[in-house]
Amino acid sequence: MYFSKFEVQDKCGRMYKTTFLLSAFILVVSLAAFNTGDPGEKPVFIPASEQRQGDAEQGYRYLTTGDFLKSGFPYDFFVFANGKGKNYLGREGKNANVDQGFNVVTNTDSMDVVIPTCLQCHSQVFEGKLIVGLSNAGIDFTDMEKRAKKLALLKQWQLTSPAKYRAVKSLLNTMNTVDPLIETEVQGVNSADRLAAVLAAHRDPVTLKWSDTAMLELPAGVVPTDAPAWWLLKKKNAMFYNGFGRGDFSKFLMMSNMLTVTDTIEAREVYSHFGDVLAYIRSLNPPPYPYPVNKELAEQGRAVFNQTCKGCHGTYGSDGAYPNLLVPGSIIKTDSLLYQANQQAKPFLDWFNKSWYAQGPNAAALVPGNGYVAPPLDGVWITAPYLHNGSVPTIEAVLNSKLRPTYWTRDFDKPEYDYEHLGWKYETRTQPEGRKVYNTTLPGYGNYGHYFGDKLSDAERKAVIEYLKTL
Ligand code: HEC
Ligand code: HEC
Repeated sequence: MYFSKFEVQDKCGRMYKTTFLLSAFILVVSLAAFNTGDPGEKPVFIPASEQRQGDAEQGYRYLTTGDFLKSGFPYDFFVFANGKGKNYLGREGKNANVDQGFNVVTNTDSMDVVIPTCLQCHSQVFEGKLIVGLSNAGIDFTDMEKRAKKLALLKQWQLTSPAKYRAVKSLLNTMNTVDPLIETEVQGVNSADRLAAVLAAHRDPVTLKWSDTAMLELPAGVVPTDAPAWWLLKKKNAMFYNGFGRGDFSKFLMMSNMLTVTDTIEAREVYSHFGDVLAYIRSLNPPPYPYPVNKELAEQGRAVFNQTCKGCHGTYGSDGAYPNLLVPGSIIKTDSLLYQANQQAKPFLDWFNKSWYAQGPNAAALVPGNGYVAPPLDGVWITAPYLHNGSVPTIEAVLNSKLRPTYWTRDFDKPEYDYEHLGWKYETRTQPEGRKVYNTTLPGYGNYGHYFGDKLSDAERKAVIEYLKTL
């Protein structure tokens, strides 16, 4: 072989001399390390970026009473149309009369308006108790027509006063635009990624001003997901299943403000609170498994876990370490639609990366990759359904792919948890059947991949499940 010296000239005109021999040596060494799977494919470490500090208590207060949307439903209309909500958050004043997915805030006309909040998607009433930060596993984006009918009712109401119309105009306009585009095929999955793309299409990236016509080509369709639990964020170096949210997390956290934002002056004011919101989210811990755990069996499970799973999911306990790895599609083999859609959504990525959100020190940026982050497994016992698209009802089935049902349904009205196999109690079906039956044959809804538990014996799997209860 022949190695030549080559020269690189940087912008300042200085010359660097590097031996090609050295680069070739590094290449050979690193290729040797890839030797285990497909050549060139191995989990990739995601580096940390600096995050804002804040006050967790103030973040919670802002999240549950703050006006991160400035447009909302007039309070009297809202209570008339929906009835009074349950006060799981123990809030005071008018907030006590709406449920956890809404805040009552005062607008610039001194009118009380009701805004939808993060907790629509990021909280769940689990066995009678509200768990903030747990994905709303029963969320329903399947029937947007029902919502359209409610909005039509609002149209009559808003005409009764110009101030009421002003209060809701922006939110109503957005909902009428996005609602027909964010419908999912089954209940229990979320279309927030699609929502973000649609909102971006209707807003100027720099001024954030709304346009009634879309200015970007929209991605092909809705990719279903199940929101990750908030208490995992403190370990993560990147946001979202695909790990494409990099830099300042608080910019991503505030993106709900895009629903109704007027201009960048408003965005800056809302942003000023999101260091606190981030601090709150990073202060959360998972709820402990509520029943006795077989300690001996869990110890055996830890040993199996540390042999088979820790390379991707890390270790737990006081000296635990989380590796922050993006696992390529060729290794994880789960439904690829989400990461492929992220990679292919070039207009959306460009929009974001030149937008107001991507400015400033330690700017936020979208960096798509070709796989999924191996998530921390803290509190995983309660986060069913599993995988990024919620396609697998129990952890037992995550760890034994033969058990995964193709069509399955759970009771959305009176959901029941399975504390033994960790997940939702479900029934299988032999064919697709309406919107309450998860259909894993649809694009994006696939339940394949993550076969790492298949090679375990039944006894080992049982032990690992016992161990997972303790995380
Ligand atoms: C319409 C539903 C919806 C609303 C409203 C919503 N989110 Fe999310 N959120 C999601 C979904 C879905 C994901 C997962 C998307 C993905 O990873 O592809 C997510 C992801 C997240 C994550 C997890 C990131 C990670 O990788 O661990 C955080 C934190 C978060 N959202 C915070 C918020 C905050 C704060 C608000 C309110 C200001 C909010 N979200 C509003 C649906 C929603
Ligand atoms: C090569 C890396 C890798 C190995 C090894 C691995 N996992 Fe995973 N695991 C992942 C990735 C990546 C995901 C997310 C996949 C997705 O959502 O599409 C995941 C998801 C999961 C989930 C679902 C989490 C959720 O909230 O949906 C569980 C549970 C899990 N793994 C447990 C295990 C256990 C137990 C083992 C060992 C038997 C193991 N994993 C081995 C990479 C790995």
